[in-house]
Amino acid sequence: MLNNLLKQPQDKILALMDAYKADVRENKIDLGVGVYKNASGATPVMLAVKAAEKQLWQNQETKSYVGLAGDPAFSKCMIDLVLNGAVSLDKVAAVATPGGTGAVRQALELIKIAEPNATVWLSNPTWPNHLSIVKHLGMPLAEYKYFNSETGGVDFDGMLHDIKKIPTGDIVLLHGCCHNPTGANLTSEQEDQLIAILSNNGVIPFVDIAYQGFGDGLEQDARFTRKIASQLPECLIAASCSKNFGIYRERTGILIAVTCDPQQRAITQGNLSFLNRQNFSFPPDHGARLVTMILEDTPLRKSWVQELEETRLSMINLRKQLANELHKKTGSDRFDFLAHHRGMFSKLGISSDLVEKIRTDFAVYMVGDSRINIAGLNMTTVPLLATAIAQTI
Ligand code: LMR
Repeated sequence: MLNNLLKQPQDKILALMDAYKADVRENKIDLGVGVYKNASGATPVMLAVKAAEKQLWQNQETKSYVGLAGDPAFSKCMIDLVLNGAVSLDKVAAVATPGGTGAVRQALELIKIAEPNATVWLSNPTWPNHLSIVKHLGMPLAEYKYFNSETGGVDFDGMLHDIKKIPTGDIVLLHGCCHNPTGANLTSEQEDQLIAILSNNGVIPFVDIAYQGFGDGLEQDARFTRKIASQLPECLIAASCSKNFGIYRERTGILIAVTCDPQQRAITQGNLSFLNRQNFSFPPDHGARLVTMILEDTPLRKSWVQELEETRLSMINLRKQLANELHKKTGSDRFDFLAHHRGMFSKLGISSDLVEKIRTDFAVYMVGDSRINIAGLNMTTVPLLATAIAQTI
């Protein structure tokens, strides 16, 4: 049987992690996988997470099962964090999932049960795993324009043109904030225009929000998602705690479904629990419990918000420095957009050949589509990267 298996294509981002590890050059720089690194290159456990873990270790008396949908307290905290009252709770169903990816997967499976012929529209470009999961599930797939490599901004006219073509009942996957991989995001006015089209055309939004707190702040970053949830009759939201709580390996995420009434909510909730049961039974609890403890406890929450804010501001500083360095070293404003992008990532808009050359000549690892992880930089590596880019292009 197993000899029937074919080799799977390597995941671009994970393959890059391996290539970086194997590189013996001392000055190598990892701008690949989306993991936050502080100025000394470490990915620390956040203070609030450590404190919550300590309390949990002291007080937790059982590791018995929780529930198929996870702990209702986790759902409540996360619905509050993401939606903050934008929709009445009796219309909101939710299940804990193994990470944001688990939520994406469960959302797509739910769509497959509810509307098997619906096409899933993805931004071009998007996080490669979106494409990969949709394809793996055999779902109809299409793309809408998103990025303008010339300006480094959103190609909003192109995007609207494509979004207007989406038939009623199809699904459009949108990034809630901090677009991955481009770093280019819609303005509030653009969001409103887009929502009006989705509303007129009966297109169902599926929002992936994996970086809340990494862009313009916890509340600001949820703005688009909240508008969608409050203005459209239905939507799905996959939220991740990997980045904003720094609990990557704990696999903590949630799938939220905003439904049109309490009856629909109950049926949707049952379907979400069913899907969890089919795929992995009970969702992981450790990370979800830490998140709940932090969000429910005033001092822990304050500490978390503060550390998250420091993380966010450090990324914005790095963006400004990099844009400045590149401005000086290239003598042009070509990369000024880096300062305006938000989140961990920015797409430089250079060819994959140049990306490869930068890797070979300077040991700088960025994803082949020229996505860089801003949080992989520090004050010392910013000028090195700027030199590498300026000398290569
Ligand atoms: C990324 O885009 O680098 C992260 O979301 C990590 C991953 O799983 O790909």
